[in-house]
Amino acid sequence: IAAPTGVREPSSDAGATLVERLLAPAGRVDPYPLYAEAHRLGPVTRIADTLYLVSGYQAVDQLLRDPGFGLHPAATGPGADGPLDLLSRSILRANPPDHPRMRSLIGKVFTRRRVAALAPRVEQAVDELLDELAAERGPVDFMDRFAFRLPVTVICALLGVQTRDHALLRSLAADLTEVLELTGPTTPAAEAAATALAERFAGLIAARRAEPRDDLVSALVAVRDADDGRLSDAELLGNLILLLVAGFETTTSLLGSGLALLLDRPDLLATLHAATSVVATAPPAGAATEAGAGDAAVAGFVEEVLRYESPVQVLTRTALVDGRSVADLPVPRGADLIAVVGAANRDPARYRDPDLFDPTRTGVRPLSFGAGAHICLGNSLARLEATVAFARLVRRFPAMLAAGDPVRRDRLVLRGLQSLPVRLGAAG
Ligand code: HEM
Repeated sequence: IAAPTGVREPSSDAGATLVERLLAPAGRVDPYPLYAEAHRLGPVTRIADTLYLVSGYQAVDQLLRDPGFGLHPAATGPGADGPLDLLSRSILRANPPDHPRMRSLIGKVFTRRRVAALAPRVEQAVDELLDELAAERGPVDFMDRFAFRLPVTVICALLGVQTRDHALLRSLAADLTEVLELTGPTTPAAEAAATALAERFAGLIAARRAEPRDDLVSALVAVRDADDGRLSDAELLGNLILLLVAGFETTTSLLGSGLALLLDRPDLLATLHAATSVVATAPPAGAATEAGAGDAAVAGFVEEVLRYESPVQVLTRTALVDGRSVADLPVPRGADLIAVVGAANRDPARYRDPDLFDPTRTGVRPLSFGAGAHICLGNSLARLEATVAFARLVRRFPAMLAAGDPVRRDRLVLRGLQSLPVRLGAAG
């Protein structure tokens, strides 16, 4: 590939070695030094003839917004074998014309209004979980007792899935999301998880079709049935499974990474506590402004956690048409691109001192929810859960302390912690 004038010919060898190191155990634990190397190679690096690593912020943003790039045709629509076929029928894996068709149907029920209306339910769920934790005397595992439970409670409430299924759903989702890693063929565990989830949702769809309730499954079934043929049964099932899985794996990681950063930096905990506590002490006349400042501090913290520890580190795309380029580098039709969102968020050309965690940064627009046609449908829900959770956590437990070393999940694409021991201390 001839690079146009002004663009450094990216080195295949250096790029290939970098990807190998990223996929190795040490790279999965701490990919950030490798991302810094990628930035030194340039915003786009050719790894092999038709494989590219995209790490620059502008380049990833441009790639995700360009309709000339999409999901690999082999990963979309019917055709893949076995129950995992259902996931490839979901919007996550669809290209036009299927993607806009399904996204607009799902958008009709998964609205901002529905999410905003969920705020009291989120607050209640946070308070209930924190009440339970406040009653504990010893250290607790934050991942198990809070970071996982909050998103699963919220998404299950939204979808209308039975509460008693939570623990099972957690392990099924963990098995299923193995398929999102870059490391190879589908595991039997992922297939078994897909089958089990499909069975559960098929039962739920039938029940809600017979007797609709005020939940998302009923709403989607109604949309599907009102306009027969616009959403197939397989697509309905695939999208419901996606909503469930997308709804908590990632948000769990956001909550865990955020708390780990707070435990690491007592100064930040103190600042956030001060910002969120003024509501209680401020005179009524000033309360609105002070509360606004507290909200803004928590929102800034959450955006910086998203930037600094993106729960989804990597997305993949394929050039669907001829004549495209990324960061001025021509990319042939059929070429695959690894878009490293986690690297883009730490691009020194976009953020000063990118490896510094600084919740007071301004102009933070992480690509952690993607961009363009596939931008995360649940981003406002995830932000709602995280801001409510951190505001209440720091207000209630200003003296919390790490109670051991966190354990990281061995994943590159879905980055997050497996366990995070914490001693929350006396409840405020
Ligand atoms: C898509 C990240 C939470 C539902 C995406 C994508 C990203 C992402 C990066 C784009 C995938 C691509 O371009 O290929 C995250 C993160 C979350 C989060 C970091 C939490 C911190 C949620 C929640 C829900 C959700 C809570 C739903 C309840 C979806 C759906 C899509 C999606 C349905 C597919 C959209 C499409 O392909 O058109 N998410 N997500 N996500 N997300 Fe999220």
